[in-house]
Amino acid sequence: MEPATIYEQIHQFANRANPYPLYAELRKTPVLRLEDGSYVVSTYDEIVALLHDPRISSDKRKADNPPPEEPLPPSFITTDPPEHDRLRALAMRHFGPPHAPRTVDDMRGELHEIVKDLIDGIADRTQADVVDDIAYPFPVTVICHLLGVPREDEPKFHHWAEEIVETLGVGEGGVEERARRRHAAIMALATYLGGLAQARRENPGDDVLSGLVTYEGPDGALSEIEVITTATLLLIAGHETTVNLITNGMLTLLRDPGLIERIRNEPDLVIHTVEELLRFEPPVQFLPQRVALDDITIAGVTIPKGSSIALALASGSRDPAHVHDPDRFDPDRPYIQHLGFGGGIHHCFGAPLARLEAQIALRELARRLVNPRLVTDPPPYRPSSTLRGPRHLAIEYDRVL
Ligand code: HEM
Repeated sequence: MEPATIYEQIHQFANRANPYPLYAELRKTPVLRLEDGSYVVSTYDEIVALLHDPRISSDKRKADNPPPEEPLPPSFITTDPPEHDRLRALAMRHFGPPHAPRTVDDMRGELHEIVKDLIDGIADRTQADVVDDIAYPFPVTVICHLLGVPREDEPKFHHWAEEIVETLGVGEGGVEERARRRHAAIMALATYLGGLAQARRENPGDDVLSGLVTYEGPDGALSEIEVITTATLLLIAGHETTVNLITNGMLTLLRDPGLIERIRNEPDLVIHTVEELLRFEPPVQFLPQRVALDDITIAGVTIPKGSSIALALASGSRDPAHVHDPDRFDPDRPYIQHLGFGGGIHHCFGAPLARLEAQIALRELARRLVNPRLVTDPPPYRPSSTLRGPRHLAIEYDRVL
């Protein structure tokens, strides 16, 4: 098969349940040029090199062939230095000491309580949906609480957050139709968050949103629009990624019940299990839109200035040149290295929180569900090939401890 056809197939919904054999084919061409002049990079060393290369931009507006314009300026995930560094620092200072009262580790008890309540909620039955009952409500409750977004409003913004994620990168539907949906969702969420930000400006609390609107330090303050784009980024990042890590985790564990038994007996194994999951079934499969700011030669191919580049993180993390026996899920690997949180200056800022959430959820599910099993394998998937994970994960169990 032509490498470009392989790439197309990876994005086809029919291959969502198992894109990994296609990534293996794709890696035979580590730097692939597509017909539209954009590039796809799929091997570990090359992806790492580009993630750390200052000649690679995260601002898709700098491409020769930029995607449709968006209604708001980009958040810092799609901005370059020095703007990126200023905005990231201003957001990060509200996530822990010395400026904010708590570290992620201080939240352990609170996270545990939320998971406990969610599992108690499925204790009167013998069937559940891991997504709707646990993996979605858990991180959403946490990020709403951290940001200061009322949990009751979740049905309102759930749809917008999902639209923004599902219209990211390549996908179903025409470019214009996807841009229209994306525009509408971005504006609806921005209006909602703008209203909340205004309320916090008048009446601040101890949440991150209050911090974002009130902080005026030596690095300056965030503008009104910057508050909205930063809050949108945090809400979506906290909403649409960890759900997939927890669900992919349960799916992987249930395919090998010996692993559930092991986590029950050795709870600390969950730490390496989550790390191996970020390598083996990563929620973020692609960084879809980097841009070359100069001609860049990598793996013998020169990517011309102005080209768009997709980095296939999920493929890189299964590159046999980097990981021994990459298609085997093995939490006992002595050294687990992966691209699950990206790398370089945009390395995931929520990684400590996401790790802890996934560890607590999987450990408690393994401990409390008696004889859990999958109802359908593979489960139905969400449409996105970029942020990939099951839409539902139906399970059965004998009872809940
Ligand atoms: C960036 C993955 C959870 C906040 C990233 C990037 C990846 C990633 C791959 C790099 C993006 C790029 O280079 O373009 C994940 C995964 C998560 C997760 C797999 C869950 C399992 C979270 C959470 C938060 C968060 C819970 C918020 C509290 C961010 C932010 C950035 C980011 C703000 C942008 C950093 C920057 O541009 O400097 N994440 N993330 N993430 N993530 Fe996460």
